[in-house]
Amino acid sequence: MNTYLETNKQRFLDELLELLRIPSVSADSSFKDDVRRAAEFVREKLQTAGLDNAQLYETPGHPIVYAEKMVDPAKPTVLVYGHYDVQPADPYDLWLTPPFEPTIRNERIYARGACDDKGQFYMHIKAIEAMMATDGLPCNVKVMIEGEEEVGSDHLGIFVANHREMLKADVILVSDTSIISNETPSLETGLRGLSYVEVHVTGANRDLHSGVYGGGVANPINVLCEMIASLHDENGRVTIPEFYASVADLSDDERAELAKAPFDLTEYKRDLGINDVMGETGYSTNERTSIRPTLDVNGIWGGYTGEGAKTVLPSKASAKISMRLVPNQTPDEITELFTNHFKSIAPAGVTVTVTPHHGGMPYVTPVDSIEFEAASKAFEDAWGKKPIPTRGGGSIPIMALFEQELGIKSILMGFGLDSDALHSPNESYGLFNYYKGIETIPYFYKHYADLKK
Ligand code: BES
Ligand code: MN
Ligand code: MN
Repeated sequence: MNTYLETNKQRFLDELLELLRIPSVSADSSFKDDVRRAAEFVREKLQTAGLDNAQLYETPGHPIVYAEKMVDPAKPTVLVYGHYDVQPADPYDLWLTPPFEPTIRNERIYARGACDDKGQFYMHIKAIEAMMATDGLPCNVKVMIEGEEEVGSDHLGIFVANHREMLKADVILVSDTSIISNETPSLETGLRGLSYVEVHVTGANRDLHSGVYGGGVANPINVLCEMIASLHDENGRVTIPEFYASVADLSDDERAELAKAPFDLTEYKRDLGINDVMGETGYSTNERTSIRPTLDVNGIWGGYTGEGAKTVLPSKASAKISMRLVPNQTPDEITELFTNHFKSIAPAGVTVTVTPHHGGMPYVTPVDSIEFEAASKAFEDAWGKKPIPTRGGGSIPIMALFEQELGIKSILMGFGLDSDALHSPNESYGLFNYYKGIETIPYFYKHYADLKK
């Protein structure tokens, strides 16, 4: 196995670079054909790796790629999930090298999607290829790579519900999360959910002269800023009534367990170029970004932002707001609480509308399962260290849906780093992480097959 990985190292990298050259931005319809080209690329690679039935499944949005290799019905089945779509690369001018011309610098691959998730799901295709070309697959394998994760996986849910039999498996294996560092491997045991809304505050029926009308009618931008500012109190807590009502608090033991993960605050601040952190009183930075729910403005606009000064009182102001959710909050509940509260604090003189976008449920994985043990042992074999269980702050909404529709639990075996700049300019993925991932994955199959016997 290790000889095979060594011999094919350069090709494994070249193939990933080819995939990274395809700008499969799911959010932007002008990239629609490129998204399909990426799907076709993945399908072809699954086929040449030796998997059966490699095909695209059409959806009203972007296609889903699926392939499988059933070696023995008596063996357990692993369902690999990943996404070939990427976030938009804007702002382009902040990239040191163009986002879709992958470049290697300091042992890292720089490109949009390098870590999220092309570099990570492609490790699975190469690991499967390597297993098949050497000792054979210890488990049956099904691979499903979608093209709409970054836009909320709208059509995957329907696909899953309609293909229950085809997707039958014992475990879902996903590499789309982070480890603590290359010295400290970890396994994420949870993801946050998401509620995402867009709000619009409208005042007068047209933009007004800010001298003629200013001071006499509501300014929607002033009002929106005040409303948003009121959503947190002085302790960094969200002020929406009942926002925390269904939050599952962790026991002191559970918190102590999570606090064992090494964390260097100085390095954290240095990496981000900030002189201090902030957040909810009474919780550590790690807790604030994983086991606690949050509310953040993602974008805000209105009025005049062009060159020079235009004296205008805008008719309308808007913002996009995300709330990260933790067990047992649900996006429906939180979106409703937000909507009611936000409308209730609107002053007279403006009208407020709230439009919900896609959301997602939080997710936790059990740590006392055979699946987790197999993943843990795989890290031990490849990294020489037991991985530390952590709770992640990001969201992969489809995880909860897999459990609900298929009754299958997932293992979040990510190999990225939080500092890989996912969704940011200059996203990158370490060559070390790419190759180490390809090396780690086959150990999971081996241990899982053994433990399932
Ligand atoms: N891979 C990320 C989620 C992630 C990143 C989890 C890092 C843990 C660590 C995923 O592609 C993503 O970006 N999800 C979105 C949600 C989606 C509905 C747009 C997110 O978390 O914002
Ligand atoms: Mn991802
Ligand atoms: Mn992402």
